[in-house]
Amino acid sequence: MKIPQFDLTRQYEQIEPEIQSAIGHVLRSGRFILGAEGEAFEAECAAYLGVKYAIGVNSGTDALVIGLRTLGIGLGDEVITTPFTFFATAGTIHNVGATPVFVDIEPDTFNIMPDAAGAARTGKTKAVVPVDLFGQMAALEAVSAAVPGLPIIEDAAQSIGARRMIDGEWRMAGEVPTVGTFSFFPSKNLGGFGDGGMLVTQNDALAERLRRLRVHGGAKQYFHDEVGYNSRLDALQAAVLSAKLPHLAGWSASRRRNAAFYDAAFKDLPDVRTPVVRPENESIFNQYTIRVSRRDALQAFLKERGIGTAIYYPLPLHLQPCFAYLGYREGQCPESERAATEVLSLPIFPELSGSQLDEVAAGVRAFFGR
Ligand SMILES: Cc1ncc(COP(=O)(O)O)c(C=O)c1O
Repeated sequence: MKIPQFDLTRQYEQIEPEIQSAIGHVLRSGRFILGAEGEAFEAECAAYLGVKYAIGVNSGTDALVIGLRTLGIGLGDEVITTPFTFFATAGTIHNVGATPVFVDIEPDTFNIMPDAAGAARTGKTKAVVPVDLFGQMAALEAVSAAVPGLPIIEDAAQSIGARRMIDGEWRMAGEVPTVGTFSFFPSKNLGGFGDGGMLVTQNDALAERLRRLRVHGGAKQYFHDEVGYNSRLDALQAAVLSAKLPHLAGWSASRRRNAAFYDAAFKDLPDVRTPVVRPENESIFNQYTIRVSRRDALQAFLKERGIGTAIYYPLPLHLQPCFAYLGYREGQCPESERAATEVLSLPIFPELSGSQLDEVAAGVRAFFGR
């Protein structure tokens, strides 16, 4: 039996009538950019995340660009982030003209080290972008405390619906930072049928500027206060995402169940380090990422058995050729560099059957002679 690392067709089979009806509605409406579906989805998202404003854009990447621009970040500014993330986190900092400043990750959660963020602050630092990697929120309150007064852009692309206990209260990803960004890339827990993204904030003035910047920078059509972007969520994507949103919590719970199954199955394997979810976090397990020293051999072994896996991420961003101009060398973010050689993400999607989970677990165990 072939087991892909990720399979979207099974989800579609479960909800096909809802999706078809939502799409039909948009096609009949004749409004394809944002539209009534866009507005409805923004309102649903804001309510779900506990934020005042949710603003739909073209992608998670655009959400980061517009978030950075809204905070006035540009040429000559520094923005602190982690090198162990998807490229867009740092690519967008570069693309608004600022300089990405990379600090290392905590080895158990793969998220930014708050103290390292504090230590990297200079007079030019204008923001920090913590990433909620693989479905688990970063220590946002600790990052904020480490850089007092600086805005925080939470890159929650992989973590919609994740929660963290902050000051005795469960807070959703996107709820507490200055600006939060999400991606609806198809493989996310809430994925569209194409690109899509969302910005969230609790701040009235920032929301107004975010809305302006996603439509060429003009509050009024054909009058432009500043130069912005064309980055709005399509009505078709919004309709699909609205139909999926009520299922999100259930899908993420299924992912947590699958994760608990693997945790138990690998418990007696000293060579496999299973993902650590801190007690103050509830992960949505966008990925289930183990650490092993013979990672490439394990991946090849599982592939032979028809089991798909993925390596997120094989080369940390501070060592990417495009960032050579920043002058980082190997050894400067040792935890990120080590993680890049050890991580392997196993299939975790909600529709995995019991026998598929058994087979993945058996494959990993067999590699270690168990
Ligand atoms: C951490 C992170 N940031 C940003 C993005 C960019 O999102 P998108 O692909 O929607 O542009 C992604 C996802 O692809 C991501 O995983």
